[in-house]
Amino acid sequence: MDYLKAQFAQSLRGSINISGAKNASLPLIAMTILAKNKVNIKNLPAVADIKTLLKLLTNLGANVAFEEDKVVVDTIPLHETKATYDIVKTMRASILVLGPILARFGHCEVSLPGGCAIGQRPIDLHLKALEQMGAKIDIKAGYIQASAPSGLQGTNINFDKITVTGTANIVMAASLAYGETIITNAAREPEVVQLCEVLSESGVEIEGIGTAILRVVGTAGKLLDIVDFRVIPDRIEAGTYLCAGAITKSEITLTDVEPKHLVAVISKLEEMGSSFTLSENEMTIHPGEQIFPVKIVTQEYPAFPTDMQAQFLALATQADGVSIIEERLFENRFMHVSELQRMGAEIMLNGHTATVTGKSKLSGTDVMATDLRASSALVLAALVADGETNIHRIYHLDRGYDSLEKKLEGVGAKIERLRE
Ligand code: EPZ
Repeated sequence: MDYLKAQFAQSLRGSINISGAKNASLPLIAMTILAKNKVNIKNLPAVADIKTLLKLLTNLGANVAFEEDKVVVDTIPLHETKATYDIVKTMRASILVLGPILARFGHCEVSLPGGCAIGQRPIDLHLKALEQMGAKIDIKAGYIQASAPSGLQGTNINFDKITVTGTANIVMAASLAYGETIITNAAREPEVVQLCEVLSESGVEIEGIGTAILRVVGTAGKLLDIVDFRVIPDRIEAGTYLCAGAITKSEITLTDVEPKHLVAVISKLEEMGSSFTLSENEMTIHPGEQIFPVKIVTQEYPAFPTDMQAQFLALATQADGVSIIEERLFENRFMHVSELQRMGAEIMLNGHTATVTGKSKLSGTDVMATDLRASSALVLAALVADGETNIHRIYHLDRGYDSLEKKLEGVGAKIERLRE
């Protein structure tokens, strides 16, 4: 297994190019199941989760071609409708194929994704909405068995909780349904917005894109001629590198980034002492001399993202004062805390709230990654810890970060990937 060896970084300098968004790519790849044409996708990130979903599609009979500057996904030959446990267990976002396969073929079997490190991650809202659209859903031997032989019916769906992949699943199902679907309490994440935009440009009538109320008029089972598209930049990857600049007090420029997707993150970094130069698809962080403590509550977009909580918790260990970080979305998303404490951080956990007393001196040691964003928090801590830090089990990191250590090396960090 690989691990990262990282050392204290004097100030970093230079620019980092942001890759395509993992969480936009996943629903967009699932969306190709609705296509009657070969779909050209640009800017897919080279991360494990994307490879996993593309492999799932090929297991179902689709063809995937990696070309120079794009990936061509051809689901015309797709004939299998069962997403098996072996692949779903490695990536719970495989649930995103449920809506499209059911809408296209009238039946689908998907292994229950099960929980993951950060929480139980139920999918009850996905299933309830599909039942409201006329699907028959049974759970048998760990599999979701869904059927809608005469197609899905448009209807009114109200999500009890805002769910990102739940909204994506239902938007895709509704795109091929008979009649109109109104989704209220829909997720407004940029990744959901891009999915709606591409579907709309591909002939699906969708109103309310970017708002909490979506109206989708289905094509009554007709497959879509899906337009070529380029995946939006990954706002969480970008936010992670902004935190690298803040924690090492370095000026770093990000290219191919959408600052407008990072308003809450920028605002919190400003509160902590940084300033920014922003343009349409570039941004530079100018860190302050001092890092100020902060209060953070994670919520759905456009509020502060849960996927940036671990990174800010690492940054807060270097703030002069006490920071309060409350995690409202997932029940177990503080596993980075014990590893940071082993490095010398002063953090007190009380239920869903972490109290971080900075500034604490961090010492390099062996640490273990536990989940995707926790891994990046450990990398940030390693950049300011005395001595060397070895970060193990970085397969978690590889799920969502494209060449992280190379991008950090590119701005002067001493970090390398080694084999245990
Ligand atoms: C998406 O997960 C992201 N993953 C997550 O990013 C992100 O943390 C999360 O949204 C929240 O922003 C992808 O987009 C692939 P949810 P998702 O459904 O869709 C509850 C990362 O680091 N819920 O919005 O699975 C759920 O338990 C990953 O890149 C139900 O109760 O999250 C949670 O408390 C981690 N029933 C809340 O809603 C359901 O049927 C939000 O979950 C669905 C969700």
